[in-house]
Amino acid sequence: MNIDDVLGRLTLEEKAALCSGDGAWSTPPIDRLSVPRIRMNDGPHGLRAPKDDDVADLRSSKPSTCFPTAACIAASWDVELAARVGSAIADEARDLGCNIVLGPGINIKRTPLCGRNFEYYAEDPVLAGDIAAAFVSGAQERGVGATLKHFACNNSEFERMTIDVRVDERTLREIYLPAFERAVARSGPWAIMGAYNRVNGVFACEHPYLLLQILKDEWGFDGLVMSDWTAVNDRVAATAAGLDLEMPGPSNANDARVVEAVTSGKLPETVLDERVRRILTVAERAEQSGIDTDNPLSQPTDEHIAAHHMLAREAAADSIILLKNNDGVLPLDPDRTERIALIGRFADTPRIQGGGSSKVNATRIESVREAFTQPGYRGVEYVPGYDESGAADAHHIDGAVRAAANADAAVVVVGLPDAIESEGFDRENIELPNGQGDLIRAVADKQPNTVVVIVAGSVVRIEDWVDAVPSICFAGLGGQAAGAAIVDVISGSVNPSGRLTETLPKRLEDSSAWLNYPGENGEVRYGEGVFVGYRYHEAKGIEPRYRFGHGLSYTEFEYGPANVSSDSILETESLSVTVPVTNVGERDGAEVVQLYVAPKQARLKRPPRELKAFRKVRLAAGGRDEVAFVLSNRDFAYYDPSFADWIIDDGEYEVQIGSRPDDIRQRVTVHIQATRTFRRELSAWNPMRDWLDDELGRQAFDAVIGSDLVDRLSGGVSAEREKFLNIPLRKVPQLTGGAVAEEAIDRLVEMVAGDAQ
Ligand code: BGC
Repeated sequence: MNIDDVLGRLTLEEKAALCSGDGAWSTPPIDRLSVPRIRMNDGPHGLRAPKDDDVADLRSSKPSTCFPTAACIAASWDVELAARVGSAIADEARDLGCNIVLGPGINIKRTPLCGRNFEYYAEDPVLAGDIAAAFVSGAQERGVGATLKHFACNNSEFERMTIDVRVDERTLREIYLPAFERAVARSGPWAIMGAYNRVNGVFACEHPYLLLQILKDEWGFDGLVMSDWTAVNDRVAATAAGLDLEMPGPSNANDARVVEAVTSGKLPETVLDERVRRILTVAERAEQSGIDTDNPLSQPTDEHIAAHHMLAREAAADSIILLKNNDGVLPLDPDRTERIALIGRFADTPRIQGGGSSKVNATRIESVREAFTQPGYRGVEYVPGYDESGAADAHHIDGAVRAAANADAAVVVVGLPDAIESEGFDRENIELPNGQGDLIRAVADKQPNTVVVIVAGSVVRIEDWVDAVPSICFAGLGGQAAGAAIVDVISGSVNPSGRLTETLPKRLEDSSAWLNYPGENGEVRYGEGVFVGYRYHEAKGIEPRYRFGHGLSYTEFEYGPANVSSDSILETESLSVTVPVTNVGERDGAEVVQLYVAPKQARLKRPPRELKAFRKVRLAAGGRDEVAFVLSNRDFAYYDPSFADWIIDDGEYEVQIGSRPDDIRQRVTVHIQATRTFRRELSAWNPMRDWLDDELGRQAFDAVIGSDLVDRLSGGVSAEREKFLNIPLRKVPQLTGGAVAEEAIDRLVEMVAGDAQ
């Protein structure tokens, strides 16, 4: 396609129409100019290709593999796995005639209550960004575009189509944007989906600062920006602000508004051309990938169905988090565990995914109960333990206790039912359904070898029973093969290696967004600022039940001394870090090596430390590997809104490398030498302290007012001195009874003006 030529030949009406959907899942084709349609489908955990183009019916989609939810994929901390899953979903997209997958969802998990946390990766932007970049690359290698969503600050479902997120610039830059920024830079996604919500008063799909300035200009994003479904409220404003495509469509009334705006001169046609150019560019990419969108299969090929079920199983197992394992109760060796009491309805009727647009019509579903018949366990007695709503009454508990008492071990599968966790609304609390805690305690009372498996899309409170049981696995919502994966971990055929991607608090009230959630009068204030998740818990010294990054293994890893390329670098240089890791246990396993940077000084309040890199390494028993990281200046910097820039304070930074945040094995201190100096503009409103702390300010102050003013005013008393240092310069004439004239203050300000940068 010759894009310039097509652009030149499109009528104004055609251009406007190209910028809204043709139905729910496609852009309109323009046959006379051979512009193909771009087909798109949800979603992030497997393809949801409707049998008919009917947006309303989420249930009638073609079968496809239901992979573990995004929350699980991230819990694997395994970028290669994320890439393989991205590729597999793309392969099924090709089978089903789809050019763009509407995923991954990469919003930060700000609160455990967000109904869509199962669809999001992490509370940390480095983890979310790296997993996202891998997924996108994996998909796009197959010629299928991926869509980062929902840009930006769509961190809860409460009033999701209108809520106004009030977020300060530093928090936006350090917490809510970097996952998108990393994924854009590393993987060049074909598309980004604008969110429903407002950000600082402006709808995200009509936000020139987010879409034009940051995404397209600063980051150089070259794909198309589409709206979330029905997220456009003012199409002309959205077009002007950088939105390329309104979904779904057709949106005849809005197309007509765009035509009118261009005709009347309100919207320059060149702006509309820019939007159209991006759609044509992606249409061209789609065309080149050779997908037959007109003749899709009714389901993925048999080969894909079989291979992807195995991949879904591997991925689910890779993401199971072993939270606790006292006395090595797990794994339950089939040869030594004759009778198992398998308790919990979810073991039989699995909950494999969350509700809403990401819902996949799985090609098959393997339950825990079914999987327990495979690896050679001889006597598995199943009891439901609770009803369909998840509630466990005395009758259920009695049955479970009886089964547990007769067994060598009990596996209790608990968790959240569909009705509690979905796109479209948030959870009310982080409790398990009524009675599940009692069920666990009663079973554990009779059976010392009790293993609890939690099935939920986000964290749940476990305080009431955590000490009663020796072993707990968090299995998330693990997709269609989750049952088999859970048994893989329980039996020990897979050594667990997942890690928490969100803090598991002792109480909901301890979580970082608690006081600023869900919002009031249409607004939600991100009042905790950059202190989200572990950043908050560590800064406040509030111990959670399990930390972000926590997860155990059946083997042990030893870390040798960490090596850094230099213990003192300029801020413009990068730092190489290597650390040898050895599997010193008797089982093969995978370790997640986590690297945190802790600044020893900071001009602005910073989190005590932040994750900056991670690597999953697979090591056979006795195996050793040298794990290498490269840190760049952004890994040491914070965003200072007063300079609109990333800043590194000159000083020392501790690089911490470990197995878990509370199990740091290596610490190296490096000095980073700042090469840029930042001066803040001084005005008469700055306190005298600022003037005297600043070299130029002090010189001017000394020259015009005299260096001893503060001493004179305070009479040499140090507490008084502090008091005067807090007073702004412009009060000096009043303080001195006019001895220092107002003109002197003006002169002083003029002397330093223009020197700031
Ligand atoms: C969701 C998106 C999804 C779209 C299309 C919206 O309600 O927020 O994530 O891709 O629907 O199904």
